[in-house]
Amino acid sequence: MPVTAVVGAQWGDEGKGKIVDLLAGEAQMAIRAQGGDNAGHTVINPQGHFALHLVPAGIFHPDTLCVIGSGVALNPEVLLAEIDALHARGVRTDNLLISERAHLVLPYHLLIDRVEEASLGPARIGTTGRGIGPCYVDKVSRTGLRAGDLLNPAEFRAKLAFATERKRAIRADVPDDPVWDIDAVAARYLDYAERLAPYIREVVPIVNRAVAAGQKVLIEGAQGTLLDPDYGTYPFVTSSSPTVQGLCLGAGIGPKRLTHAVGVFKAYCTRVGAGPFPTELHDAIGEALRERGHEYGTTTGRPRRCGWFDAVAARHSVQVNGLDSAALTRLDILDALDRIQVCVAYELDGQRIDYFSGIPSVLERCRPIYEELPGWQTSIHRCRRYEELPPAARRYVERLEELLGVPFDIISVGAQREQTICRRSVL
Ligand code: IMP
Repeated sequence: MPVTAVVGAQWGDEGKGKIVDLLAGEAQMAIRAQGGDNAGHTVINPQGHFALHLVPAGIFHPDTLCVIGSGVALNPEVLLAEIDALHARGVRTDNLLISERAHLVLPYHLLIDRVEEASLGPARIGTTGRGIGPCYVDKVSRTGLRAGDLLNPAEFRAKLAFATERKRAIRADVPDDPVWDIDAVAARYLDYAERLAPYIREVVPIVNRAVAAGQKVLIEGAQGTLLDPDYGTYPFVTSSSPTVQGLCLGAGIGPKRLTHAVGVFKAYCTRVGAGPFPTELHDAIGEALRERGHEYGTTTGRPRRCGWFDAVAARHSVQVNGLDSAALTRLDILDALDRIQVCVAYELDGQRIDYFSGIPSVLERCRPIYEELPGWQTSIHRCRRYEELPPAARRYVERLEELLGVPFDIISVGAQREQTICRRSVL
């Protein structure tokens, strides 16, 4: 009964897309559990180079049933564009299902996201502007529309009219805009509905039948644990829970059915948007990591902030998620460095601490305490077995394992699917 959750263990962009694409070849089902098109999952495989936002990264394996789960914030326009782009490149989507419970991102969610960010001024979060926060606000305030509503045009129109009028009445700060035109939005969404209807289902029994039958099921996370509203750097977080717990919830699988939780860590840290980042580098090394790693947002193109691996934050992530093991990605990006730093603790007001505070102003005052390790200064792109890695690269991996208390079962040494060292099966 292998059910494996693949969770982002830092601030997102850890390379989950590559890991899920790799593992999905063995899985009968891959479920995207939360988040929306704020996510950008890069997959490079024999079919090409893809940036997925909503479609599970398992889609390239025709025998893997791919599910957009109940916890996802679904922008139907973005999903259809993604499906069209996949079809244009010969990737089929007959193996895709959408939960009828997934909430719809509506045009006014995008507008509200922009207006709220602008109103925050210097305190802005740096959202992706995809309307994800406002969509989840409506979910929790019980005024959202869901994928299943698209299947009943009369009901959809009525719910949209009610929700739009209510929102308009309480959001006097949001300007006049075509997003408030109920007829136009209903017509657009009901067009999308015609194309999406074949994919929309109650997926809970389908998913749980697969689990009960002992099929290999992958749950794919979006964003990362440090962007979790409860356990991340609140308020500089996203609006769904990118933890293992959030993944089970969004997939409709009870946590006791989960057999393996694998956290994906990048060999260094990055963050997009605002918020504390104790190991951020503002120097030439940070710049070099960004350039060598092409650290620019898949969804927004924004330059990512770069820094050293933070084992304090990583341990927090291991604890919050209850990780069984980890995948280490982009180790090759460190190839050229002669010395590598790992943050092993923080100094806070003259005291050494080893926990990741939940208070941003405290995190801002934390100074990283580094341990220095030698670099390997050679290309590792061709390594396929752990023993083939240079001794300094193995020492880096093993030091991280000691600091985190979990084994790195998968190590990625390049962007291509085959540029991967698999030390143990996680599925
Ligand atoms: P939102 O999810 O668009 O509301 O953005 C909230 C915060 O999460 C911002 O700092 C975003 O940059 C960040 N964020 C959202 N999605 C991702 C992602 O997929 N990768 C990395 N950061 C993300």
